[in-house]
Amino acid sequence: MSLYAIGDLHLHFQSQLKAPGQLNGRVWKNHEAVFRENCLDMLTEEDTLVLAGDHSWGKKLSECEKDLEYISALPGRKILLRGNHDMFWDVKKTEALNESYRGRLRFLQNSYEPYGDYALVGTKGYTFEGPFYLDARGHVTGWDEEEAARAEQLVKREAERLRASFEAARKDGYTRFIMFLHYPPTNILERSSVFTDMAREYGAEHVIYGHCHGHERFFDSLQGRHHGCEYHLVSGDYLKWKPLKIL
Ligand SMILES: [Fe+2]
Repeated sequence: MSLYAIGDLHLHFQSQLKAPGQLNGRVWKNHEAVFRENCLDMLTEEDTLVLAGDHSWGKKLSECEKDLEYISALPGRKILLRGNHDMFWDVKKTEALNESYRGRLRFLQNSYEPYGDYALVGTKGYTFEGPFYLDARGHVTGWDEEEAARAEQLVKREAERLRASFEAARKDGYTRFIMFLHYPPTNILERSSVFTDMAREYGAEHVIYGHCHGHERFFDSLQGRHHGCEYHLVSGDYLKWKPLKIL
């Protein structure tokens, strides 16, 4: 029994790419087939695969059904987190999603999933990605105050959701945690955030996130050991479509 993670499949069996050309380059060529092959090679039915958001370009559930069927057909137990592009997933309708995909997919929101002694907890997260710029001397310029204020609200809401996830697990007696986010826990200006603080507060052993695509973004946030915890980027193009084994 092993735990794997990957994010950002950005499937579009039924829908149009939101921004054609946004995710191009060799690594995206035929990536659905490459990823499926890798899963068939690496995973068994006893394994768990957490998908850290951005599953589909479809805006409505009816435009995502084939994408979700593709994920359902992968080996093992599949747990999904919300990404910023997952418009099909209304937080308030998570229960209905879980009901309709019962026995095939689990949608994680304000809850947790057990994995042996561990609770798998998580939320979409958020971090302010700009607009801001770093000049040649590393000073921040072009800071958009309005966007920053909006981001603060989103971070606050996501932090509450993450705490609800941790607390649901703790209430059921869990003391060991693996924490998942879609957004990176910090932006390029930060070394810590409300999310890294919460990981430390609850003693999460791993923090896993996606969202960062392309070489120029892969190292935007924490990787490796920080604040007593292991940080991993699992966006699919970073992993070249091989799920990362966490445990
Ligand atoms: Fe993405």
